[in-house]
Amino acid sequence: MTSGTSGKSRVFSGIQPSGEFHIGNYLGAVRTWAQQVADAHEDLFFCVVDAHAITVDYDPADLRQRILALSTDLIACGVDPERCTLFVQADVREHMELAWYLANVTPMGDLSRMTQFKEKSEGRDFIASGLFQYPVLMAADILLYKATIVPVGEDQVQHLELARDTARRFNHRFGPVFLEPQPRLSKATRIMGLDGQSKMSKSKGNTLPLFDPPDAFWSKLRSAFTDPKRLRKSDPGNPDICNIYAMHQVLSPADEITRTFSECTSAQRGCVDCKKVLFEHFDRELIPLRQKREALAANPQRVRELLGDGASKARRIAQKTIQEVRDAMGLGSGG
Ligand code: TYM
Repeated sequence: MTSGTSGKSRVFSGIQPSGEFHIGNYLGAVRTWAQQVADAHEDLFFCVVDAHAITVDYDPADLRQRILALSTDLIACGVDPERCTLFVQADVREHMELAWYLANVTPMGDLSRMTQFKEKSEGRDFIASGLFQYPVLMAADILLYKATIVPVGEDQVQHLELARDTARRFNHRFGPVFLEPQPRLSKATRIMGLDGQSKMSKSKGNTLPLFDPPDAFWSKLRSAFTDPKRLRKSDPGNPDICNIYAMHQVLSPADEITRTFSECTSAQRGCVDCKKVLFEHFDRELIPLRQKREALAANPQRVRELLGDGASKARRIAQKTIQEVRDAMGLGSGG
């Protein structure tokens, strides 16, 4: 199924500018985005979703700075704005408009079942209704561009199911406007946090920032949790439950992955040595990314211009869809 006039499939994905950009974001999503940009087979939209980041407490000055920092990181990782549409969500106000319209075909019961809402609202005195509506805005992000492919990590799959249901409900009630999006999962759908207790997540404080200086990166990676039953080097490990092995599977060459598996299960290689090899692969991949990031950071005005161009491109499509939606729903004076 294609969405644009180019005949290419349309892809949409987003990332929040909250907390530091970490290796879970990179391996679970952004590395795949960069590969798609390099392949150039699809019509690609990538978005820094700042309006999603205001659903929990935040500092406005800090948010502005994070939006630019994350955009810089994305471009450094290969999300090249000359070859895809990279923009900031709140620069295209149609996202918020569509979210309100879609809220009226979304049952409260579905939203209250969302795992992320349950997790993020737990223990808070103040729960913004925006946090409850969060998946509706996410559905709006995707449906606004009639994207059919959404590259995400496993934690976003439930939200995507809701986006599909929303498209179906809207079309059933008002006529065929939207396409139903499908998730595209990377090989690293769920990178665990350094504590090994839960998924690596900005809100859990268990992350390894992708652009930490190499020394800091190594000392955090070195402390990462592995197979809990492997207490000594002489104990055979179980790679299938090891986060370090999960990352080897994405980053390392095929022969290295096979060697890691066999040396771990036969207790020939200890966890620290295994992490050292992984660190070398990370470091090799990150050297050109760090250089690019440094060059971009020296020219923030250029990054702002690129984001402005991206928003203009996105807005053209967004406005067309909003007009279709308003017509289908009978909204406005029709003038
Ligand atoms: P966010 O900002 O939490 O994460 C951005 C992307 O990184 C993936 N990810 C992970 N993948 C593997 N292991 C992990 N530990 C890990 N942590 C994060 C996420 O799955 C995501 O793909 N709601 C979204 C942002 C969003 C969006 C959208 C995504 C808003 N609108 C429309 C797709 C389409 C979020 O909070 O992602």
